Amino acid sequence: METTDFIYKNPERILPSGVSSWKSPSNIALIKYWGKVNPQIPKNPSLSLTLDACATYTKLEYYPTEEKGNSILFDVYFDSEKNDNFKPKITIFFNRIKEYVPFIFDYKYVIRTRNTFPHSSGIASSASGMSALALCIMQIEKELNPLMTDEYFYKKASFLARLGSGSAARSVKGSVVIWGEHKEISESSDLYGVEFPKEIHPIFKNFHDTILLVDKGQKQVSSTLGHRLMENHPYAENRFSQARRNLSELNKILQKGAIKEFIKIVESEALTLHAMMMTSNPYFILMQPNTLAIIHKIWNFRKETKMNICFTLDAGANVHVLYPEKDKEQINNFIVNELTPYCQNNQYICDRIGEGSKPLANDIIK
Ligand code: DP6
Repeated sequence: METTDFIYKNPERILPSGVSSWKSPSNIALIKYWGKVNPQIPKNPSLSLTLDACATYTKLEYYPTEEKGNSILFDVYFDSEKNDNFKPKITIFFNRIKEYVPFIFDYKYVIRTRNTFPHSSGIASSASGMSALALCIMQIEKELNPLMTDEYFYKKASFLARLGSGSAARSVKGSVVIWGEHKEISESSDLYGVEFPKEIHPIFKNFHDTILLVDKGQKQVSSTLGHRLMENHPYAENRFSQARRNLSELNKILQKGAIKEFIKIVESEALTLHAMMMTSNPYFILMQPNTLAIIHKIWNFRKETKMNICFTLDAGANVHVLYPEKDKEQINNFIVNELTPYCQNNQYICDRIGEGSKPLANDIIK
């Protein structure tokens, strides 16, 4: 599908006041998205696992308005309290999506939202947050156009979510999601995320992700700046081709269940993301001494026990520890006893692969 397929074309009709509520999960990229061009088009395809425990709940109340102008009127409540900090990012989002959902000017909004993960945990909420908001807006479109197919609903939700935050395109639907065109992945697109199109080997189905909170502070490098650093990066083109090659490999690995090869690709992607930051201009080191200590502990444990444990990293110091269901107990003990002492206040979040976004009853979010 092309960009023009996402422009709302149905006749103008104003709905009475209403509410839509969605839950959207976070996701953790195994093949990293790092580098983009306008409007939110990735320089390489990425692949992520959808998480289950880390999610955003959003309720969008819409009220028809006569005060139509060039801007959209809205208030945001976070954890039941009015919060203006989110307004700039949501305003940018509305501006980017308005040509595809022009009906948004017919209403003013109250957005009520909360996360299931601690607020300052260093876990980015833009993926789950933008995905949940995009789904709420699509529900208004569905009210206006009840004949819309589910397929179009989710594709356009991912398309809109992408315009809010690239990684949000991967939080809309499915357990393993690819965003960005790749010749070996049928239907893949730079415009929206698609579910991994093949059967995944059982070993990857109940995969676990324990997030070790090494640094709960504000991000040192915003993703906007981070992606921009790839623009004149000396290794950019090699990195983008490497990501495409890694996705080719991971495509086969996920089907075959080749976990040893999975570990090599996943850890290499994480370290490459950080290598890109260390070699950009200006340069950044986002790992902390405890990040490295954890990585070495994981490597030693893997060597000693031959267990299939590995790590990945976001654009920060936190470590995601990935492992299959089968080894859950022993690895959990290892995490609690040996890794959590490196976390701030010993804090960590146990998560696992989830199924994607879900509509919510409107009374769940107050
Ligand atoms: C390192 O999706 O946060 O997490 O499109 O500017 O909102 P924007 O960027 P964002 O970038 C995510 C970067 C990453 C890797 C990934 O999730 O693929």
